[in-house]
Amino acid sequence: MNDASIGIFDSGMGGLTVMRALMARLPQERFLYLGDTARLPYGTKSADTVTRYSVQAAGALVRRRIKLLVVACNTASGVALPALQEAFAPLPVIDVIAPGAEAALVASPRGPIAVIATEGTVKAGAYMRAIHARAADVVVTQTPCPLFVPLAEEGLIGGEIVELVAHHYLDPVLAQKPHALVLGCTHYPALKGVIAKVAGPDVLLVDSAETTAIRVEQRLREMDLLHSTAARPEHRFLSTDAPERFARVGEIFLGRRIDPEAVELVDLQ
Ligand code: DGL
Repeated sequence: MNDASIGIFDSGMGGLTVMRALMARLPQERFLYLGDTARLPYGTKSADTVTRYSVQAAGALVRRRIKLLVVACNTASGVALPALQEAFAPLPVIDVIAPGAEAALVASPRGPIAVIATEGTVKAGAYMRAIHARAADVVVTQTPCPLFVPLAEEGLIGGEIVELVAHHYLDPVLAQKPHALVLGCTHYPALKGVIAKVAGPDVLLVDSAETTAIRVEQRLREMDLLHSTAARPEHRFLSTDAPERFARVGEIFLGRRIDPEAVELVDLQ
């Protein structure tokens, strides 16, 4: 099983920011990424629908043989994790919320911590729970920023429009003087430049990608599932809509070229 891929899924291309951190940490591993672009966004849908979509997305990866699943979508991590763990046991499943909560507490052990995320993640209270499970007294606020997702998926990651939207969402959050701001949605790291500019130098931005990658490495090591050879791995991508667009826009999130030939169109059910 060591030579099998690490499966990653997200509702779209945002999870490629997590894959980027994973590739940097585990350069010998092969990745299989699924972006459910036909059904994005997950962040405004009900928990039942997101769970159903997540199980279908993970199923498509499992059928192609993976040794570990990364739920690189905060909304899916927040509502579908137990269903995924149950449906695909004993496959190890790593989410992005627990690592994000840990990273937030490293950045700001006493808070206050502000979380920005999709409506679904905020409604599920997933970050709040994960942070309070580790530090009950830390003040946590949660704010949905729904327009950030279509901006990032559109490749619009800087400039006047993005700054206006960032001010619209972040000014009330920043008025509460958080020490750390958690980018609790896989798409938000793509807008990090603008978010950092609006937040100013006193607020630490927390992105769970790096901590998630550390957790994946630990789990593979514990299970003795790390890839053994140093050959240059080939990565594959599955997209539920417009593979050409996936390859083109996905590069913004992955930070490197995606060969359109490596992207396969799939239908989930
Ligand atoms: N991937 C989602 C998340 O991290 C954001 C995009 C969406 O709403 O589907 O929450």
